[in-house]
Amino acid sequence: MHTRTLTASDTDLETAGQLLRSGRLVAFPTETVYGLGANALDPTAVRRVFDVKERPADNPLIIHVPNVSGLEGLVRDVPPLAHRLAGEFWPGPLTMVLDARSGVPEITTGGLTTVAVRVPDHPVAIALLGEASVPVAAPSANRSGRPSPTTAAHVMADLGGRIDAVVDGGRCVFGIESTVVDVRGDQPIVLREGAVTREDLGITGHAGDAAAIHASPGTRHRHYQPNCRVQIAAAGAAAATAAGLAEGGARVGLLATSDPPPDVAALGRFDHPGELAAMLYAAFRDGEEVGLDVIVVEAVPEIGVGRAVMDRLRRASG
Ligand code: TXA
Ligand code: MG
Repeated sequence: MHTRTLTASDTDLETAGQLLRSGRLVAFPTETVYGLGANALDPTAVRRVFDVKERPADNPLIIHVPNVSGLEGLVRDVPPLAHRLAGEFWPGPLTMVLDARSGVPEITTGGLTTVAVRVPDHPVAIALLGEASVPVAAPSANRSGRPSPTTAAHVMADLGGRIDAVVDGGRCVFGIESTVVDVRGDQPIVLREGAVTREDLGITGHAGDAAAIHASPGTRHRHYQPNCRVQIAAAGAAAATAAGLAEGGARVGLLATSDPPPDVAALGRFDHPGELAAMLYAAFRDGEEVGLDVIVVEAVPEIGVGRAVMDRLRRASG
C-alpha cells in the first residue's frame, strides 16, 4: 500500500477526513505524539489499527473528539469530576476513562466496560476531527513496543506502506503521551502518568495511585523501546557512565544535562524534565539510526512531568 503524506492545508484535511470516514487509517499530529486514527465506531477500521501496529488485542484505544460534546454517544454519563476536569484541561493531554455506551465497539474498548476519551490541543488534530465528523480512535502511531512518533517521518519509518495517509503537522510539543485518569469516582485515579502532572490534577501523596487498583492495560506490555539498549544513569553520573561504556568498546550516545565526553555521541542536552520529555523519543530514534549500542539517559527528579519521563525511561530500559 502507498502511504500518502498530506499537509495541513484545508483541501488535504478534507481528504484526510473523508479517508477516516470511509474506514481508512490516517496518522495525524497531536500536542503529545502522533496518533494512528480510525473511525472509532467502525470495528473493521479499528481492527486494522491493531493489525498494522501488531498491537495486543487487550490494549484499548483512546477516542479523540473535537470538544466536550463529543462525549455524548460514547459514555453513559459525565459525572461531576469529569465535567470539572474537562473544563480545566480540555483541549489538552488528559485522557478520561468513563463508563462506555453500548454503541462503542468492543474492539475499541479492548473488551472493557469503560472507554478512554480526550480532546487534543492541536489545531491540525481539531480541524481533522471536524472534517471526519466521527469519533477517532487513535493509539500512538508506532509499531507496538516502539517509541511513540513525534514527527511524520517517525510515523513513516514504523508504518509507511501499512496505512493510508499521514498528515504532517511538524514536531509534537510535549513529546510524551497524555495522562490517563479514571474519573468515575470522587478522585481522579492515574492509570498512566503523562503530560498533565499529578500536581496539575491536585493529587497529593499516594492518593490517585492506580498501582493498588488497576493500571491501564497498556502499561503491562513492552513499550517505548528503540533497537538499542537504554541505560538510566543517576544525575551527575551520566557523562562518566557513558565514558566508561565507550571505553569498553560500545557505541554510546548521551542525553543529559551536560555535554558528552569524547567518543560519546550527543543525542540532546536538557535543563528541565519537560525538555527531556520533548526530545526523548526522537533521541531514541536518532540513536538507533546511527547504530548506537546503548543510549545513556540522565535521571530526572520524580516530580511534575519528571514522573512520566521516568516511567517511560524505566519501560524503555526494561
Ligand atoms: O497522548 C496520547 O495519549 C496519544 C495521542 C495519540 O493521543 N495516544 C496514546 O495512545 O498514547 P496509546 O494507545 O499508545 O495509549 C493508550 C493508553 C494505553 O495505556 C491504554 O491501555 C489506555 O490508554 N486505555 C485506553 N482505554 C482505556 C480504558 N478504557 N481503561 C484504562 N486504560 C485505557
Ligand atoms: Mg502507545
